[in-house]
Amino acid sequence: MKSVRPVQVSGVGCYVPERVLTNHDLSKIVDTSDEWILQRTGISERRIVDKGKATSDMAEQAVRCLCASLQLDPGEIELLIVATVTPDMFFPSTACLLQEKLNIRHTWGFDLSAACCGFVYSLSVGAAFVAAGLHSRVVVVGSDTMSSIVDYQDRATCVIFGDGAGAVLLEPAENPENCLIDFHHEVDGSGGVHLNMPAGGSLLPSSCETVKNRLHYVKQEGQPVFKFATRKMEEASRIILRKNNLTPQDICLLLPHQANARIIRGTADRLGLREDQVVINLHKYGNTTAATIPLAMQDALAEGRLKEGDLVLLASVGAGFTVGTALLRWAF
Ligand code: UT7
Repeated sequence: MKSVRPVQVSGVGCYVPERVLTNHDLSKIVDTSDEWILQRTGISERRIVDKGKATSDMAEQAVRCLCASLQLDPGEIELLIVATVTPDMFFPSTACLLQEKLNIRHTWGFDLSAACCGFVYSLSVGAAFVAAGLHSRVVVVGSDTMSSIVDYQDRATCVIFGDGAGAVLLEPAENPENCLIDFHHEVDGSGGVHLNMPAGGSLLPSSCETVKNRLHYVKQEGQPVFKFATRKMEEASRIILRKNNLTPQDICLLLPHQANARIIRGTADRLGLREDQVVINLHKYGNTTAATIPLAMQDALAEGRLKEGDLVLLASVGAGFTVGTALLRWAF
């Protein structure tokens, strides 16, 4: 993306619910074990929202945390983009519900649906508004309540997902060197059959039949998704790096979508990255879909692994199939 004006990520704020669901807890619900889940995915536990709470509630907490860290009045946010596949309801959008919860009347916003690539796609959309000079303070939120669409009778999917939210502020860059450098996104619609939620939309509206057949839950064929993700995380990362005359060795930190530790380690190996160049935190949260990358950002910051000027690569693959990468120099 050729910026009209350079754009920076100015801050990060996240929220995860307090309630922890461990592998051991899951082994009492479905035929699984801590050993299998840990070995095959790298996940130990995940967070689950309390009944009555939803995606907009977690998004609100993430945005409040972001604003508190920057001493920013939420009223100064001009645009809210919410990446989610688990909106509170079909409409109004989660962005509208979030605006109401934040009590910020002059902010507009919308939702963006791209599954696990939702955050990276939204980042590029939000950055385009700032780059074009249309807005100076855009907040991008990734928030997903996966527990609301996961079938806790299906051991192949229920062990993977968790709930969480993360938000970042996009502003004109103070130092034009430390900005969002580029994006590379792809979609391969032929992959839609491997990961989806069949019912509840316009094709199969909710009915007693769809509920009885458990069609309002995530359905995944793990193997084809795994293969596509492992191949594409590397391929898309190489494309964006090559476009910018960079190599994997130039990256200070890879912040990948957290779906499976084997996918992340496989990608890192193929790119020739050292362990200290890659953030893995899915053992704590599982796959929180649109929230994984901001949650990884927050953990990297807390561990002192992100410094001003660092070259950072974001990479994700998700349902669709969607593929999303972003390259930036960290600004704070
Ligand atoms: O973020 C969105 C994108 N999603 C992803 O990137 C997910 C990609 N896929 C994966 O991460 C992996 O494919 C899974 C973690 C979902 C599954 O791991 P796998 O190594 O691909 O397992 P599998 O599906 O090939 O299943 C192997 C065996 C099967 O048993 P049989 O047929 O060999 O007897 C499954 O029934 O493991 C069984 N299995 C389980 N066993 C214990 C599947 N889930 C479980 C489980 N506990 N939870």
